[in-house]
Amino acid sequence: MTYSKIAGVGHHVPETVITNDYLSGIMDTNNEWIVERTGIHERRFIDPARDTVANMAAKASRMALERAGVKAEDVDFILFATITSDYYFPGSGVLLQRELGLESIPAMDIKNACSGFIYALSTADQFIKTGMYKNVLVVGAEIQSTALDLTTRGRGTAVIFGDGAGAAVLQPSEQPGVLSTHLHSDGRFAEELYVKDPGSSRPHEERQPEQILDTSGFKVHMNGNLVFKHAVVRFMEVIKEALDANDMTRDDIDLLIPHQANLRISNYIQQKLGLPDEKVYNNIMRYGNTTAGSIPIAMSEAWEEGKLKNNDRLCLAAFGSGFTWASALINWQE
Ligand code: UT7
Repeated sequence: MTYSKIAGVGHHVPETVITNDYLSGIMDTNNEWIVERTGIHERRFIDPARDTVANMAAKASRMALERAGVKAEDVDFILFATITSDYYFPGSGVLLQRELGLESIPAMDIKNACSGFIYALSTADQFIKTGMYKNVLVVGAEIQSTALDLTTRGRGTAVIFGDGAGAAVLQPSEQPGVLSTHLHSDGRFAEELYVKDPGSSRPHEERQPEQILDTSGFKVHMNGNLVFKHAVVRFMEVIKEALDANDMTRDDIDLLIPHQANLRISNYIQQKLGLPDEKVYNNIMRYGNTTAGSIPIAMSEAWEEGKLKNNDRLCLAAFGSGFTWASALINWQE
């Protein structure tokens, strides 16, 4: 039986640090509210003159490839999770392929928001198990800052998001690496967290730039309260599903990396599961919510900090727009 394993992880975040005090200067908010409601102290925003989703992803990918001991030319499949691709089309996977100097290998974008990285990981796992690919680059990268309403009107959403990229290299393994993945969605809630435009269902006459009088459809709309309530339920369900599928209990988890949506959500899950602080990794304080980037960025930092060791049981879990939610249980292999 062939399994897949994570052979290397990497990340890249833009240089520009946006503090809560900076946001307080451009909208009616304050450091106390943001820290108390979200746990976020600062996040990174891109410099549009320098950073793109694809070039941040390329930096994260090169780090992951180096740590895996894999040359870029040996990558045989790119899976790119993002909802903020550089162009409306094509996706950013092909742009990453170009940045890495590769030609003709397949590149596929996955548009499942905060759950996107786990969806991509699950897809990579299947392709490796069937023997089709040997070095799959799995990326989660986002530029949220350019889609935020950075005025008081958008403050309920704008203060939580940030930009960044993370990557993982998946390879075949005789020892179990990825133990199981679990994917879900519920499209009834699509409009509770979405960016409407540029939507193809807009009538042709409304798609002329001079006809677009209301540009709010290009900004992130989020029903924060409702998303929060669903998130805490789905996170718990999908973590339990992963544990049950592997005949494990919460005591078998060495490290839980929840998608970094809101520190209150992570703390709620931690408390419900009864996990000690050292078994839950959070970095939302420094980066905010980077959507598909959040889990691979956190995995890369956790590995750098020595929090992921051989045979550790790593649990990943995410919830976000769609709604979509997902989990993965991984036997970490060095
Ligand atoms: O990534 C996956 C998907 N996303 C999530 O999982 C996010 C889930 N939701 C959340 O994290 C939270 O709902 C938010 C952090 C977005 C908002 O926190 P909340 O505790 O749900 O606040 P709220 O929207 O209920 O607003 C409470 C109050 C309101 O004032 P009133 O009506 O009580 O007077 C808001 O106007 O806080 C006010 N408020 C703010 N005040 C200062 C909302 N945003 C801000 C702000 N600064 N940035």
